[in-house]
Amino acid sequence: MQVFRDEDADPGLIRGRKVAVIGYGNQGRAQALNLRDSRVPVTIALGEGSASRARAAEDGFDVMTAAEACRTADVAVMLAADEDHGRIYAEEMAPNLRDGAALVFGHGLSIRFGLIVPRRDLDVVLVAPKGPGTALRRDYENGSGLIALFAVDQDASGEAQALALSYASAIGSGRVGILPTSFAEEAEADLFNEQAVLWGAIPELIHAGFETLVDAGFSPEIAYFECLTEVKLLADLIYERGIAGMREAISNTAEFGALKGGARIVDQDTRTEMRRILREVRSGSFVHELLEDARAGYPRLKASRARAAAHPIEEVGARLRALTKGKG
Ligand SMILES: NC(=O)c1ccc[n+]([C@@H]2O[C@H](COP(=O)([O-])OP(=O)(O)OC[C@H]3O[C@@H](n4cnc5c(N)ncnc54)[C@H](OP(=O)(O)O)[C@@H]3O)[C@@H](O)[C@H]2O)c1
Repeated sequence: MQVFRDEDADPGLIRGRKVAVIGYGNQGRAQALNLRDSRVPVTIALGEGSASRARAAEDGFDVMTAAEACRTADVAVMLAADEDHGRIYAEEMAPNLRDGAALVFGHGLSIRFGLIVPRRDLDVVLVAPKGPGTALRRDYENGSGLIALFAVDQDASGEAQALALSYASAIGSGRVGILPTSFAEEAEADLFNEQAVLWGAIPELIHAGFETLVDAGFSPEIAYFECLTEVKLLADLIYERGIAGMREAISNTAEFGALKGGARIVDQDTRTEMRRILREVRSGSFVHELLEDARAGYPRLKASRARAAAHPIEEVGARLRALTKGKG
């Protein structure tokens, strides 16, 4: 795979465009601040009554609605929540975007699953940083950056790829690497990972391990340290050395335990379920359920948040984290 860096990007391209960042949440704020520090002219678009308006104004940005911002923008960056993209694009952006403007996305979902069908005169590109906005901003300020994926869905101007690289470089990703993908690959792999590995499976595994130990009479504090705290150690080791390198860093006892236990927990049934999750993602049925929940005011998401907050691991965690903070 070809990896692009700052030297492959023309910084003047994005600096010469008026950029409207739609949304000032997790990604919107970080990308807007990085762009401005890279000398790109930026305005922020938010809903009329948005609570985030004050924050964007305090940060020194001009704030307007998406409809207003799109009338003058050369580049509109869609950083509202995915489930709101269809409505914001149809009602506020499509009628107002200038001929030949560019649309930048931070995630491929709304193009891959047809929430937005962009006007044919627009350039449509993806620049998806691989991490949260807090990390994107922190790394930029430290002189580094977050890896970003990029893709082109529509190239009306003939320079959509150059624009995507210039944008990715301006948010700091060219310092480490800008990797090519497609909207479909980025969206499908991301949705799969969120469910089957990262935010779905790993916390469930932690809950199950904690419950097994506590039900067997172990103290909740010991169960918490074993099943949750050490996840950070594992993540740091894997991040720095890979999985094989992590194995070298742990004791023979831990390594032999991994050999005995790992494949019994993640067995053929787990892999079958992973393939089912991937089919649900690809068929669009997951996105359909997400939009249904959003339309109903998120009853399923709210119930799941309440269940997670009420789990006994939270009370132990709050106590133990307070101890650590007290020491600092
Ligand atoms: N979070 C991540 O780590 C991450 C990483 C990579 C890519 N992405 C992608 O980045 C995009 C944004 O995600 P996010 O997590 O940053 O979202 P978020 O934190 O939920 O922020 C969404 C923002 O959109 C604003 N908004 C709502 N309606 C609007 C309207 N009509 N006009 C303008 N702005 C409006 C919201 O305003 P209020 O403040 O008033 O609600 C909020 O500021 C998504 O496509 C996501 O998939 C996210």
